Formats: sequence, C-alpha cells, structure tokens
Amino acid sequence: MSLGRLIITGVSSGIGKALAEEALAAGWEVDGIGRNSCEAIDRHENGTFFQSDLSTTNGVETVPLRAASTGPTILINNAGTIGPIESTANLQTEELQYCMQLNVLAPMRLTARFLQEVSGEKQVYFTGSGAANYPIEGWAAYCASKAAVHQYAEVAAKEHPTIRIHAFRPGKVDTPMQGVIRNSSAAAFADKAHFVEAYEQGELVKPEHVAQKLLQVFVADREIPVIFSTSNI
Ligand SMILES: NC(=O)c1ccc[n+]([C@@H]2O[C@H](COP(=O)([O-])OP(=O)(O)OC[C@H]3O[C@@H](n4cnc5c(N)ncnc54)[C@H](OP(=O)(O)O)[C@@H]3O)[C@@H](O)[C@H]2O)c1
Repeated sequence: MSLGRLIITGVSSGIGKALAEEALAAGWEVDGIGRNSCEAIDRHENGTFFQSDLSTTNGVETVPLRAASTGPTILINNAGTIGPIESTANLQTEELQYCMQLNVLAPMRLTARFLQEVSGEKQVYFTGSGAANYPIEGWAAYCASKAAVHQYAEVAAKEHPTIRIHAFRPGKVDTPMQGVIRNSSAAAFADKAHFVEAYEQGELVKPEHVAQKLLQVFVADREIPVIFSTSNI
C-alpha cells in the first residue's frame, strides 16, 4: 500500500527529479508533470508521467490531477525558470510573460484546480526562494515571481486552514538552474561571483537533501510556518 500520491511539476532535473526518486523509493506514488520525465518515474510501477508545457495555458488547464487512493494527495509546484538575468530597464514583455506564467500563474492555477478537483486529504507546496525577500541585481523577474508565490501561499493557507499549504526555501541547490546562473553574464548581475564561489567551495545543497527534508515535512505532526527553509527542518 502506498503512503499517498505526490503530484510534482518539473521532474526532469534538479529538486523535482530528486524528490521523485526519493519519494518512489520511500513508498509514495508519484505523478510527474512537465515537458520531460525522468528515469525513476519511467521505470517505477508507482510512477506516472503527464507531459505538459506549464508555460502554456492549455498545459496548465488540461493536465490530469489525480487523487491518491490511500493517504494524502500532495501537490508540489516546483517547475520554474530563473528568467531573464538582466537589468530592470532592459526587461522585455515576452521573457517576463514566460517567467511569470511558469513561476507564478501555473502554480496558482494548478493549485486552484487541485483544491477544486481533488478530494480527500490534501497538501500543497511551492518551491519558493530566499530571492523572494532578498533583492539580487539582475534577477528582478525571478525575485518578483518568488515573492508572488510566497504571498500566494500565505493567502491560500489563511483561506484553507485545514489544508497544509507551504512554500519552502531550499537554499542554493546544486541543480542545472545554478549552472545557468553561473554561466550568465556578470554585466547586470553584480552578485555572480558569490554564486560561482559558493559552487567552487562546495557550499551548494544537494537536491537529494532537499527531497529528504520534504518527505519528513509531508508526514510531520507538528506546526510548520507557511514559509519555511528546508535547512531548518
Ligand atoms: N537551484 C536552486 O538553487 C534553487 C533555489 C531556490 C529555488 N529554486 C527553485 O526550485 C525549482 C526547481 O528548480 P531546480 O533548481 O531544480 O532547476 P532545474 O533543474 O532547472 O529544474 C527545473 C524544472 O522545471 C521544469 N520546467 C522548466 N520549464 C518548464 C515548462 N515550460 N513546463 C514544465 N516544466 C518546466 C524543467 O523541466 P524541462 O526543462 O524538462 O521541462 C525542470 O524539471 C524552481 O522553482 C526554482 O526556482 C531553486
């Protein structure tokens, strides 16, 4: 018998992939959503992949959201982009729309659908970021998108006190997104050297570590703040 079902967006790499792998190994069913799957989901009898481009309205509105047959159903809104790394004065409509659709609107609409369509015990998580509260030059779109997600989680949690709704800050995690950050131009990104140094000093958190912390949170029987850092769990 499974522990319940995780519905995870963005399972092809990074945090979402690690969470899918750790969850399947621990006895959860996993429904992965995204443009690409991962080996763990494809190979495991409790893994299912639904292909969906979450930067499109159609992708968000049509992807199946299935309730667990036993245990809780848990939505983890994880897919995301760092967005344009560019001075605020140079940001363009299309790149802003893409970032906001994927990082903000998709999680908001998937959560709305999840709350309406999925019955039984539910939990909702958003992959938030320290960048929601800490301004990083060149990251205006990303910082704004994560601040929006944190505040959305706060409102949703207040409206639905019987459902566990949280956004988590995973820290600097060793994923392809950090590679994109290190390879971006320093022209508009004054802090770039700090990210390169953190990587070279081995300071990045492993995605498996974040995944293991989340699996603890899903079954924790104590109060956890709406916005929490996985390093504090
Ligand atoms: N890494 C960090 O230090 C860090 C820190 C704080 C927060 N986060 C957040 O953690 C989350 C996961 O990021 P990550 O670091 O694990 O980066 P990642 O390895 O780049 O993973 C991003 C995931 O999102 C998926 N995705 C991207 N565009 C998509 C689209 N249009 N439709 C559906 N899925 C899409 C990607 O899959 P495909 O490209 O195959 O579609 C991939 O599975 C993001 O929300 C990010 O903002 C990361």
